[in-house]
Amino acid sequence: MERLDKFLCDSGVGTRSQVKVILKSGVVTVDGVCVKDGSMKFDPAKAVVCLRGQVLGGKKRTVLMLHKPAGYVTATEDKNDPTVMELIPQEYRHLDLKPVGRLDKATEGLLLFTNDGDLLHRLITPKKEVPKVYYARHEGTATEEDVIAFREGLVLRDGLHCLPAILQPLGAGESLITVCEGKYHQVRRMMASRNMTVEYLQRRQEGELTLGDLPIGQVRLLTDEQIQALDDI
Ligand code: URA
Repeated sequence: MERLDKFLCDSGVGTRSQVKVILKSGVVTVDGVCVKDGSMKFDPAKAVVCLRGQVLGGKKRTVLMLHKPAGYVTATEDKNDPTVMELIPQEYRHLDLKPVGRLDKATEGLLLFTNDGDLLHRLITPKKEVPKVYYARHEGTATEEDVIAFREGLVLRDGLHCLPAILQPLGAGESLITVCEGKYHQVRRMMASRNMTVEYLQRRQEGELTLGDLPIGQVRLLTDEQIQALDDI
């Protein structure tokens, strides 16, 4: 059971004091009945709450996909650079979304956000090994030896051992890389260890989720089925 005033705040209707005024004006209904008392308790999973006839969602469990552009840091705050939080449209700001893992400032592509702490933790824990697919433009051309070295598990220049990964050469200076871990500058360092400095990097896929035709800088909500699939990972 949840208090009506809290539910209205969580739905982005306004602050506690604004919600009080709104309630008094008689524009909020619960299951079709006008309610003015913010302390009223109800079950958000069963009741339908409307503001001027519009159904409200509360702070429901949400997963959002962003097509991150270069130039934004994956952080909730930063002194020097714009953050990915600035790309979240106003209508989702009240949901307390946090980025799932990180992409470098220069990297583009698929970045998830959620307000479900358990899901966030499960998706970034090294134990789960969710495969992530990156497209890279790079110096040189990937060879069969590079493919084998990725498959066997690279040892980086600083001695770090990587899990086996998949390198798919796409032609001169272009490859797809699939990794199941997310250490600092993982793909750039893996490619550099094979003398293929990365010039452009884009994450295209995480588990079963793909960027699809989501335009750069835009977000889309995951469907309940897609969220369910993440729960099953
Ligand atoms: N690997 C990188 O090097 N950078 C990223 O942003 C993601 C993976």
